[in-house]
Amino acid sequence: MIEYNEKLRCYHLQTKSTSYIIHILGKGYVENLYYGKKINSVNDESINALLEKNGTGYGNSVVCPEDATCTLDSVSLEYSFEGTGDYRNLPIQIVMPGGETSAEFISTGYTTYKGIFKQCNTTGMPYAHAGINDEAIETLEIITKDTKTGIICKLVYTVYEKCDVITRRVVIDNVSNSAIKINKIMSMQLDLPDKHYRMYTYDGMWARERMQHIKQLESGIFVNASTTGSSSNRHNPYIMLEKNKGREAFKSCYAFNLIYSGNHYEAVEVSGYDKLRIMSGINPDKFEWTLDKETEFVTPEAIMSYSNEGVEMLSQTMHRFINTHIIANRWQGKERPVLINNWEATYFDFNEARLMKLARAAKEVGIELFVLDDGWFGDRNTDKTSLGDWNANERKLGGSLATFSRKIEELGMKFGLWFEPEMISEESELYKAHPDWAVKVPQRTTYTGRNQLFLDLTRTEVRDYVVDIVNKNIKEAHISYVKWDMNRHLTDAYSLGLGSRQGEFSHRYILGLYDLFERIVEENPEVLFEGCSSGGNRFDLGILYYMPQIWTSDDTDANERIDIQQGTAAGYPLSTMGAHVSAVPNHQTLRNTSLETRFNVACFGALGYELDVTRLTKAEKKIVINQIEFYKEYRKVFLYGDFYYEELDDGSIVWQVVSSDKNVSVLMLYQRLARVNSAHAVIRFAGLDKDAEYEITNRPQSISVKQFGELVNQVTPVHITEAGVLQSIINKVYMLDS
Ligand code: GLA
Repeated sequence: MIEYNEKLRCYHLQTKSTSYIIHILGKGYVENLYYGKKINSVNDESINALLEKNGTGYGNSVVCPEDATCTLDSVSLEYSFEGTGDYRNLPIQIVMPGGETSAEFISTGYTTYKGIFKQCNTTGMPYAHAGINDEAIETLEIITKDTKTGIICKLVYTVYEKCDVITRRVVIDNVSNSAIKINKIMSMQLDLPDKHYRMYTYDGMWARERMQHIKQLESGIFVNASTTGSSSNRHNPYIMLEKNKGREAFKSCYAFNLIYSGNHYEAVEVSGYDKLRIMSGINPDKFEWTLDKETEFVTPEAIMSYSNEGVEMLSQTMHRFINTHIIANRWQGKERPVLINNWEATYFDFNEARLMKLARAAKEVGIELFVLDDGWFGDRNTDKTSLGDWNANERKLGGSLATFSRKIEELGMKFGLWFEPEMISEESELYKAHPDWAVKVPQRTTYTGRNQLFLDLTRTEVRDYVVDIVNKNIKEAHISYVKWDMNRHLTDAYSLGLGSRQGEFSHRYILGLYDLFERIVEENPEVLFEGCSSGGNRFDLGILYYMPQIWTSDDTDANERIDIQQGTAAGYPLSTMGAHVSAVPNHQTLRNTSLETRFNVACFGALGYELDVTRLTKAEKKIVINQIEFYKEYRKVFLYGDFYYEELDDGSIVWQVVSSDKNVSVLMLYQRLARVNSAHAVIRFAGLDKDAEYEITNRPQSISVKQFGELVNQVTPVHITEAGVLQSIINKVYMLDS
């Protein structure tokens, strides 16, 4: 709900459990009075209590021309600008028609309406949609105008009442007579009145994405940003702030995210007056935008949420919000197929016979979707060649893609395919025909990543080619699933089509990418798309708007996945995380973990198998059959249940999901290190109905005889040599109960 109190000049934005209060100060500065637990009655008294009382002067601070007791350097502002004495980190910088970067955006009015931001589907960017039938959404647009030029800066707020989320974006309307240049434009700014917070960020690199880090905020600015051209595996745009002093310590907390897949920037500043300034938006580094007269610039949408029940509840809010307002309606609540992916089973080394053998074995254990990964097209037998040539290698597939797909469907499985549509190999037919389509800076050294170059998605003819060829493959080969990969970071940001506006490349690339998604993903609504970028290099809300799941990480080691999946779950629902059981020794870490452990971790997500299932022993096959049956039984809870986690005293990790009706819960205990004679672990179930009675059962699990080595001879009537023939034979057919 959004209420405006004319007398108090206050907007009160309310969700189920939170209040957000905006006040128009003095000559029209837009001030934030409050964001936190819901205030039921906003009246003269409560507003008066929230208003900051200015004392005497501020030493050498710059003060407001109309009020010498007020310095904007200390006011909690909704969106600050340059040249008024606010010396904190500013959300916007515009080079005005006169050349100055000073601005004075003063509130001149507002509109409110039911539903999401009216211009949403003309921005060319993904956004938080209305869900299936959420009637309780409202939008507020506060119109501010620059006092000199009349240029409009609209502050847009959309209130998702049921989900406890408020989204923000900013629109600049250049109503002046000349072009202006935007050097920086954040989607949101929030000033909070005190500084005692810890900041949660999700950082990493390839194969160790979204490791949670918690840091105490101190004076100064802490920046969480990416410059790789994508949201990146370096720093995810999701952050949380948790109060860590005073009565509300460890309860009061905020979450922020950005619906954007390119370079992002989140900054949190502890100012000299001990206030906190938070902002989120497109990274101003590698960004500039010339805004012609009579045109608009709309920022990506930022999302915010508050909870007074701690960060775990905030994560659950994010899960619900993403599952209802980011994931496309057609995928909401849908069970995802258990898949087999041939990548780690075969890499590039496959032919039709090998793939069909894999498919048959996968079908036998209950797998529902066969995904053919990299290497099916052009001359692609290494990662040096053929990106862009999306024509099936019929020699490898024993015929056309459509024929191969039919063979898989005849086995009773769906068929899925890997693409990397944004890329081009220098060794390719496409490059021979269109060398200028590759992203390069003329007369400069070109830097490659994984031997490949970006296609210049800022150009329409390039996008048209990609749309046609990918759609053609999808349609002709009856493809049910696409893994959309992107395997390098951006360098050499330059387009032959952009002239002197090269500073716009990174953002225009992302707009080009979203155009591809509109024309490929939205055109094939029945196809399940899974995002991927060398694993989880582009795990963000922009991708999730189009693709309901993302390959979480190239690291499939169960122990590593504990940190990666738990870090990801802080901001994203389990339904969005692709999680696979792979072979041991693990291909990334060379660690051995049991088949059961690998499944126990992977089942907390969209489950797949990525190993040569033809090589499973009879005993292992039985285990996998049981695992898949178990997953199918509880799939909905794994994908959409409320997720809880806890670290026990000995470092063991507990993960738990609870169905929304609280009837079913699945809990996993992951023991990081084996210990002898240790204390009992006390496991506390969370999120259950306190008045209900629950029956608890263990999932029966098995353990390989091999794991006991020579020790097994203590109980066997005949001697079994470790790694000997007998052990190997027993191991093939028999497993011990774990
Ligand atoms: C990336 C992906 C992998 C696999 C390979 C294929 O690394 O993350 O899952 O698809 O590309 O080249």
